Amino acid sequence: MEKISNAKEPGEVVILGVESSCDETAAAVVVNGRQVLSNVIHSQIPVHTLYGGVVPEIASREHIKRVNQVIRKALSDAGKTLQDISAVAVTAGPGLVGPLLVGVSAAKAMAFAAGLPLVGVNHIEGHIAANFIEHPDLEPPFIALVASGGHSHIVLMEDYGTYRILGQTRDDAAGEAYDKVARALGLPYPGGPKVDQLAREGNPEAISFPRAKIEDAPYDFSFSGLKSAVLNYLNGCEMKNIPVNKADVAASFQKAVVDVLTEHTYRAAEAYHVRTVCLAGGVAANSALRQAMESAAEKRGIVYSQPSLIYCTDNGAMIASAGYFAYQNGERSGLTLNAVPNLKIGEKGRLG
Ligand code: KG4
Ligand code: ZN
Repeated sequence: MEKISNAKEPGEVVILGVESSCDETAAAVVVNGRQVLSNVIHSQIPVHTLYGGVVPEIASREHIKRVNQVIRKALSDAGKTLQDISAVAVTAGPGLVGPLLVGVSAAKAMAFAAGLPLVGVNHIEGHIAANFIEHPDLEPPFIALVASGGHSHIVLMEDYGTYRILGQTRDDAAGEAYDKVARALGLPYPGGPKVDQLAREGNPEAISFPRAKIEDAPYDFSFSGLKSAVLNYLNGCEMKNIPVNKADVAASFQKAVVDVLTEHTYRAAEAYHVRTVCLAGGVAANSALRQAMESAAEKRGIVYSQPSLIYCTDNGAMIASAGYFAYQNGERSGLTLNAVPNLKIGEKGRLG
């Protein structure tokens, strides 16, 4: 079908973004990469809470049930129809293959039916792009700390679409460590926000948990030793019949994570002479990390950006924003676009 009318303002690029890489079915309409007209998120948390974590097969089925209605609502909240849209952007990876396939298939079907360009987006690049939404003056180059459930990276965004990975986790992602420690503390999934909450009542200096240093890679992370130290501490208390102050454990664990993330990020900014730092990913919603990153920036006179909480965890607006900049760079995916569960930051070749 041909695109028959064009209700866009001259100079306006209107992107419909679709996200389904994990346990949120989300869609949004964003103008010129920064102005959000709608942002609809259907969270599957209540479904997965029963199992203590995301069950990929159940997630896929939930996405199938919701994806069309979420997209329809994103369009109607924005007061747009497909004819007003310049391109459809969709998360192609990284993520869970089944959930990714649902969003990719929906986006391909829409692009085909409405004769619209299709842009495959990297989920992590989407998290970084969340910073463009509320900070109209933000431009690369900047250093981004991306901390989510599946990934922890320090990235130098040199230009739109050009990324250099300076550091990454060797084992668990920061959010994964939060979720595992939460489970050990008897807190329900998703554990990150619950640990954050509990930590506010605890003493971050109460227990000395390790901060891993990796000799040959100063910006890499390792959180599995920290997670094991927390588990060992809890087991030790149980065996010796010592009562556990869970708030102190949460606060001390959180301090160890936040110290390492913050220190590595600003060390990278200094080494690469970058004067702007951004925070991104689900763990960017963490109150202690937000505070530490902001005050470290202030101390160093660095320009700092962090998204509002709604743009930290998975959402369609960040995908539409990243999709806009990719679209402006001339990037297009064909209808052969596939889900790429292990897509790397900056990797364009596998985006159809
Ligand atoms: O980015 P995201 O929504 O999904 C992935 O791309 O992985 O991140 C989800 C992760 C989960 O591990 C969740 O526990 C963590 O972000 N998270 C938090 C907080 N809010 C979400 N971790 C710590 N403190 C929070 N307030
Ligand atoms: Zn995410």
